[in-house]
Amino acid sequence: MNEVREDEGLVYIETGDGSITLADRETGEWYHNSAGAFKESLVNYAEPAMAFLRAENCPEQLALLDICFGMGYNTFTFIETLMQAELPGSAIETLSIKAVELDKSLIPAMIKTLEQSVYPTLKSSGLAPAIVEMLKESLEKETCQDDGQGHGQDKDKVSVIPQGVSSVGKIDFEIRFEDLRLCLSGLLADEKQHYDLVFHDPFSPRKFPQFWTLDIFSIYRKLLKEGSGKLFTYSVAGAVRSALAQAGFSVYRTRALGRKTGGTLAVADAKESDNFRLEMLPAELPGSSAFSSDLFFVLDDIELEKLTPRAAVPYRDPGLKLDRASILRNRQNEQDLLSQNLNLSS
Ligand SMILES: C[S@@+](CC[C@H](N)C(=O)[O-])C[C@H]1O[C@@H](n2cnc3c(N)ncnc32)[C@H](O)[C@@H]1O
Repeated sequence: MNEVREDEGLVYIETGDGSITLADRETGEWYHNSAGAFKESLVNYAEPAMAFLRAENCPEQLALLDICFGMGYNTFTFIETLMQAELPGSAIETLSIKAVELDKSLIPAMIKTLEQSVYPTLKSSGLAPAIVEMLKESLEKETCQDDGQGHGQDKDKVSVIPQGVSSVGKIDFEIRFEDLRLCLSGLLADEKQHYDLVFHDPFSPRKFPQFWTLDIFSIYRKLLKEGSGKLFTYSVAGAVRSALAQAGFSVYRTRALGRKTGGTLAVADAKESDNFRLEMLPAELPGSSAFSSDLFFVLDDIELEKLTPRAAVPYRDPGLKLDRASILRNRQNEQDLLSQNLNLSS
């Protein structure tokens, strides 16, 4: 039985590796895999992203977009792993991270996450204390917002030169407390082809299809660097993988965690297409044999068999404002129409 604790209105649960997670107040859905919150951020996001940095020439400027930042595990574990790494070639000059999260009441959970023993280098380098201070200021700003004195401007940024670290020279971290769909059009106006990495970590597609649409993935495709940009997510759903392929990504599986069957890596090196076809999925791993074969996989026959034309119909939300029910209903209608057409033609 997992240990449960309540603090400042947040329900914390201990996961299999001893790290903490939260349960969503509305749906009860856990923020992380029960096998381990830290482990999940390592296996689904930090390790596969690091494998690419080790195998390819590291860019001097590395940019990460962390979507649905939550308690911050994905970013924190990635930075910890990067700061502990010996990278080939020259070090990364600047790592810039933009995090998007709707719920500001998670700030105490972000701070608790950073306090855990799994982040020793974040603490010793001075980065964790700087982020904690910035988050506390952000909370205070919220409290002062109603005083009419001009508080509440967007200052949730911090820039740190990490001490005792050779793999990265400077870290710029910014968190936006904003709705994902509202924030994306602004990013698209300012930051086309800017990002090397996207970590996409909303709640599950069934409960929140609005965050797993072809339209959002098409925006990521434009935000990521052409040819080299990569997206990581935990979902292996057919509707998600087919939407990624339609948006112009090559789609692969990442390593499994707990009872899950792996996550998804999407590389921004394919072409957009109106229709999903199985042939769009690559039959070989990207790049050279330098990629660790136990971290990435081409989709196997069982996964391909699940991508039937019906299952491959993506969630759609062209104006980025449809509600859950409309997105599900529209997909159902599209699937029914497809089945009718397939029956007619057979
Ligand atoms: C699965 S959790 C993310 C876990 C997180 N990546 C971590 O490492 O702790 C999903 C997150 O999505 C956030 N979220 C829900 N609706 C959102 C929205 N409209 N825009 C941005 N974030 C949202 C939730 O507040 C929650 O923190």
